[in-house]
Amino acid sequence: MRLDRLLGLLGIASRTGAKEMIRLGRIQVDGQTMLDNTVKVHAGCALVVDGVPVDARTQRHLMMNKPAGTLTAAQDRNAATVMDLLPRVYHTLSCMPVGRLDKDTEGLLLFTTDGKLTHRLLAPASGVEKEYDALVAGELTQQDVQAFADRLRLSDFEALPAQLTILRVHNGQSSARVVVTEGKFHQVKRMFAARGHEVISLKRVRFGPLTLDPALGPGEFRELREEEWQTLSACVLNK
Ligand code: URA
Repeated sequence: MRLDRLLGLLGIASRTGAKEMIRLGRIQVDGQTMLDNTVKVHAGCALVVDGVPVDARTQRHLMMNKPAGTLTAAQDRNAATVMDLLPRVYHTLSCMPVGRLDKDTEGLLLFTTDGKLTHRLLAPASGVEKEYDALVAGELTQQDVQAFADRLRLSDFEALPAQLTILRVHNGQSSARVVVTEGKFHQVKRMFAARGHEVISLKRVRFGPLTLDPALGPGEFRELREEEWQTLSACVLNK
């Protein structure tokens, strides 16, 4: 792509600003000062702006530990969104969330610039597993485990079989692990509600083959490693 377009995509300058920066000799690509804004460069070239190396990749993939209280939305007038937690470059590259977590849900949220992959990961036919840690009101029993495994009937749909593992029952509350393969609106909360248990807190700990990096505190994110990206893509290949 043209150098001025790349600088624009990376959020370094507007198209006009980029033209000016190039004219002033402030941009180097692969060790050479570029003076022509129309020159074609490839994303991921060795880009240096004012002597400082800049990551020039236009395809980015992230994992975030979404904090409770933030909306999974591109923008919102009243509430903080997950996009507010990302530097500008991810906005200009349209690195968007893969699906949604409720405002009060925390944990693993993926972001990517690859819209096609997002589509495949979210397609019901892909059956990508999502794993959650839940704290619920009341005492979970083996009947709940069986009900989750046997297609729970909700008001407007029948949930696909889900794995429920009870971890602890204590003081009128239960903690559990849930694995679902679909992602309907409020899916996990509604499944527990159908069994008479209100969800007190919910955290996603796995999406397909990727588990939440324990080094990420709430609101922190990191880019996926190449092998993580490959494994994620491979899990929906041919689906
Ligand atoms: N299920 C829910 O109920 N909420 C989420 O945020 C994710 C799954």
